[in-house]
Amino acid sequence: MARESRVLDVNTSYAYLLWARDFATTSIVATVDDDPGGFVIGYRRPDEPETLMIWQVAVDERHRGQGLARRMLDELVDSLSGEGVRRLETTITADNSASIALFTSFANARDAPIERTPLFEAAMFPDGHDPELLFRIGPFSTERSTTPGGVMSMTTTTEPATAIFDSLESQVRSYCRSWPAVMTHSQGSTLTSEDGREFLDFFAGAGALNYGHNNPALLDPLLDYLREGRIVHSLDMHTSAKRDFLQAFSDLILEPRDLDYKVMFPGPTGTNSVEAALKLARKATGRQHVLSFTNAFHGMTLGSLAVTGNSMKRRGAGIPLTNSSKIPYDDYFNGAVDDFMWLERVLQDSGSGVDKPAAIIVESVQGEGGLNAARLEWLKALSDLCREHDIILILDDVQAGCGRTGTFFSFEEAGFTPDIVCLSKSISGFGLPMALTLIRPDLDQFEPGEHNGTFRGHNLAFVTARVALETYWADESFQNEVQAKADELRAGLTTIAERYEGATVRGRGLLTGIAFPDASAAGKIATAAYECGLLVETSGPEDEVLKTMPPLTISSEELARGIAVLEEATAAVLGDGVPA
Ligand SMILES: Cc1ncc(COP(=O)(O)O)c(C=O)c1O
Repeated sequence: MARESRVLDVNTSYAYLLWARDFATTSIVATVDDDPGGFVIGYRRPDEPETLMIWQVAVDERHRGQGLARRMLDELVDSLSGEGVRRLETTITADNSASIALFTSFANARDAPIERTPLFEAAMFPDGHDPELLFRIGPFSTERSTTPGGVMSMTTTTEPATAIFDSLESQVRSYCRSWPAVMTHSQGSTLTSEDGREFLDFFAGAGALNYGHNNPALLDPLLDYLREGRIVHSLDMHTSAKRDFLQAFSDLILEPRDLDYKVMFPGPTGTNSVEAALKLARKATGRQHVLSFTNAFHGMTLGSLAVTGNSMKRRGAGIPLTNSSKIPYDDYFNGAVDDFMWLERVLQDSGSGVDKPAAIIVESVQGEGGLNAARLEWLKALSDLCREHDIILILDDVQAGCGRTGTFFSFEEAGFTPDIVCLSKSISGFGLPMALTLIRPDLDQFEPGEHNGTFRGHNLAFVTARVALETYWADESFQNEVQAKADELRAGLTTIAERYEGATVRGRGLLTGIAFPDASAAGKIATAAYECGLLVETSGPEDEVLKTMPPLTISSEELARGIAVLEEATAAVLGDGVPA
């Protein structure tokens, strides 16, 4: 009947009026500084009066990101606890990560169990509506009791308790200085702080959360694996979790791309993968020197720091960083000098004084170095040059890999095959530490045990990594979605950049941002965005680039919302600019 009754939806406002009259005690309206800011409406199920069914949560766009939804929900539930309400139900579509985060954080805060089951299939709706999942939360304990339903007002936010971080944690900490909220929960593209504020994530764990936070497709197999008493830690012993991961990586990633690599598991971070690559290249060639690029970033341990550009980070080494030289990245001279002119010349000239390098290490998009995206033909020419001179080409795909630029590897469209590839960050899919070094078979020259590490066998990461490959990389649909979202992001950022003289859009895929001529602007915009509930960072040698890196699973609605916040934050810092 519901499916057949196509005209019923025009009665929505009428339904709201009835709701306001008949269900006032199970609904709540919030005012923010005397303005209506949002509402939550629900009813007690006649067959189960201890259950409050939440039918709608709405927050005015201007008041999002301040934890208003959570406060209304808490207030409403607490107000009904005196009447015996012990459970909460709601229906949510699978892609509504903001609502999933809201209700998950509500359940977690009350230590209440949460069940998710399908309720209405898509076929039951007349209008192409997505399937609705039923979330059942409870039983939860009572808290305070006030007058049922009504109007709630809010004017202040509470300061988070951060004293222990300030007194005990090393001063090296950095992200928390820009984002002082104490985070407690996360779901999809949303993080929630302990004071109930929600933050849309345009940061994605610096690229470690390409598939979003607590992705249910990965969480459930992980929890099953843990509950079954399976192997968690194993160094490099054989485990079924590792076997299944290797099989999936071979079937879904290497074979379809015609890539012939040995897979090495170094320690579980990006810098471990780079160290292994550098050591191998040196061992295999018997040469020591490695060339890397201006503004490169490859990690913080001494070998990878030596091939990193940033002077502040290099100073932290405390010893000379040797055995490497920097060469200009693509477009370093704004097109004024031919690509590779210097490199080609010194490699040919036996009097140049430049030792023939063991390897050249490169990122196809420099994430930390300011979102410089090398042209694909430049990357291909670099590969040709390495081949010609018998130099190993290491492609550091730690940040730009795992789909970030729209294809699984960032070099796929450039038409060459690197000799060694470094992967980490999102390879586990779930934010668990894991890294791979992919090696051309004849370079696989470490003796057994010659490059060890206690945490190379992180089976939880193998489990989620395998499921991530099976969920997102079994066909091209996810890749196509990412590319469509990358176009939306680029279009939104271009509209902003066009308003401000000298601002340029940089990057590739969902690793794109805006470089501002006034180097201080990006940091101020990121701060303003945080105040509006958006996490976004800066990059580049002067932090001059506003760097956006949302989860690849972000919805178009969330992407548009984040871009709108950036637009507002930019206007707040730089003024309205030139109308487009
Ligand atoms: C390209 C690249 N390589 C290596 C690393 C180092 O990774 P990790 O911080 O996991 O050591 C990073 C980190 O941002 C990176 O972006």
